[in-house]
Amino acid sequence: MKIKNICCIGAGYVGGPTMSVIAQKCPEINVTVVDLNEKRIAAWNDENVENIPIYEPGLSAVVAEARGRNLFFSTDVDEAIDRADMIFISVNTPTKTYGIGKGMAADLKWIELCARQIARVATSDKIVVEKSTLPVRTAQALKNILENTGNGVNFQILSNPEFLAEGTAVDDLLNPDRVLIGGDIDTEKGREAMQALVDVYGHWVSNDHILTTNVWSSELSKLTANAFLAQRVSSINAMSELCEVTGADVNEVSKAVGMDSRIGAKFLKASVGFGGSCFQKDILNLVYIAKSFGLNEVADYWEQVIIMNDHQKRRFAANIVKTLYNTVSGKKIAMLGWAFKKDTNDTREAASIYVADYLLSEQAEIVVYDPKVTEEQIYADLDYLGSRTGEENRKSVKIVNTAKEACLDAHAVALMTEWDEFLDLDWEAIYEKMLKPAFLFDGRKLLNKKKMIDSGFKFYAIGN
Ligand code: NAD
Ligand code: UGA
Repeated sequence: MKIKNICCIGAGYVGGPTMSVIAQKCPEINVTVVDLNEKRIAAWNDENVENIPIYEPGLSAVVAEARGRNLFFSTDVDEAIDRADMIFISVNTPTKTYGIGKGMAADLKWIELCARQIARVATSDKIVVEKSTLPVRTAQALKNILENTGNGVNFQILSNPEFLAEGTAVDDLLNPDRVLIGGDIDTEKGREAMQALVDVYGHWVSNDHILTTNVWSSELSKLTANAFLAQRVSSINAMSELCEVTGADVNEVSKAVGMDSRIGAKFLKASVGFGGSCFQKDILNLVYIAKSFGLNEVADYWEQVIIMNDHQKRRFAANIVKTLYNTVSGKKIAMLGWAFKKDTNDTREAASIYVADYLLSEQAEIVVYDPKVTEEQIYADLDYLGSRTGEENRKSVKIVNTAKEACLDAHAVALMTEWDEFLDLDWEAIYEKMLKPAFLFDGRKLLNKKKMIDSGFKFYAIGN
């Protein structure tokens, strides 16, 4: 079976980059990415390719190459579904904020809406691919919805979770560690559908990097991978606190530990806490699934990863207050970086939001600088927490265009995101323009301690 038309529902951080790379690598396949969000689609279609809605190194060049040739962005969901042989569902699956499973389970409302829309619109056989991260056994629910339409259309459901990380999405897509495809291995139709997707990736991914499994293994592997990654961050962050009271240096510890080939060096960087749209939501979802099967010890084990992460964010903020003589009321704190990691404009679950909220509750005045995050987004993040009115947030939080401006007359600087440009700042000049004593809190262990102390700062870094 040869795929000629692909539709992807959801033009977000996953749908946009993933489909752009598929279109770039498969010029004979028409790829249409659809979304209900008109503003987002308009931005993907912006004449100036630098204005696409997602900042990812290398992405605009990929879009520039394929857009208008075989890559299209549209709000006409029905038409794209009808034309496609293969439909990727790449919509958001956030933590539920209401009802049963509130605060834990994944909200599958948007997934179900997609399934119902596909069922309503489809007039020919389709391969439906779960690209969103989903609870294990969601494919069964999709199958039930799709197969009960009575219009004679056949659907094959595949699970093809995405492992890209933001900030390195294009590279991750071009050179994936593995592509995982789960399907109905036991039937011929199922195997055909899997092969059709293998052939799409086969345009640029070698066969030994494409792994086929049953659907449930594929769905659960995605949650497992995120849980393991987040667990490593919480593990090293737990050690960072121990380092601070014992005189060990967490960077030295992670280097020593990571040189053991059984442990490996990646994902052992201590930080102010992991953020991003997925680690927390996927672990909460895992905890919920385990609990729903009565596996309470399994649930408790994974929940601890989140508890540690919340602790890390809180203790970073609390340390700022404590160090500034137990009060930040009326004091100006410069926050450098707002995104949850460097090289992305995504702020979902960023540690900065929670640290800012804590400091604002202590009546601090906050000035934020981030090279890629908009003012509108920063206020939206704070407003969403509901800790104070939008007006109060705008009064106590200012957003500026340079790091230097943020630090002017500040009592303290909190480095929240590891943007490369923060390494190259003229820290001596920044020190000169701050109130004294000038405090610097490095939440990313990015800066050279000796250099900062020599520049005059009272310097505090996570894990040291
Ligand atoms: P996102 O919020 O950036 O994008 C989702 C898009 O889907 C939104 O633009 C929304 O308007 C659209 N949408 C929702 N319902 C729709 C509908 N019925 N019809 C048309 N459009 C609809 O989300 P994202 O970050 O791209 O994540 C999508 C999924 O991929 C999630 O399940 C997430 O867990 C998973 N994932 C994300 C990442 C990541 O790095 N962000 C990585 C791997 C997996
Ligand atoms: C993560 C996974 O790495 C991807 O494989 C997965 O596809 C994705 O989640 C997802 O499912 O959404 P992402 O959240 O984009 O990707 O970024 P990461 O690089 O994993 O970083 C997550 C958070 O952990 C960031 O806040 C980062 O600063 C923090 N982190 C990461 C650390 O604090 N220390 C580390 O050593 C690594």
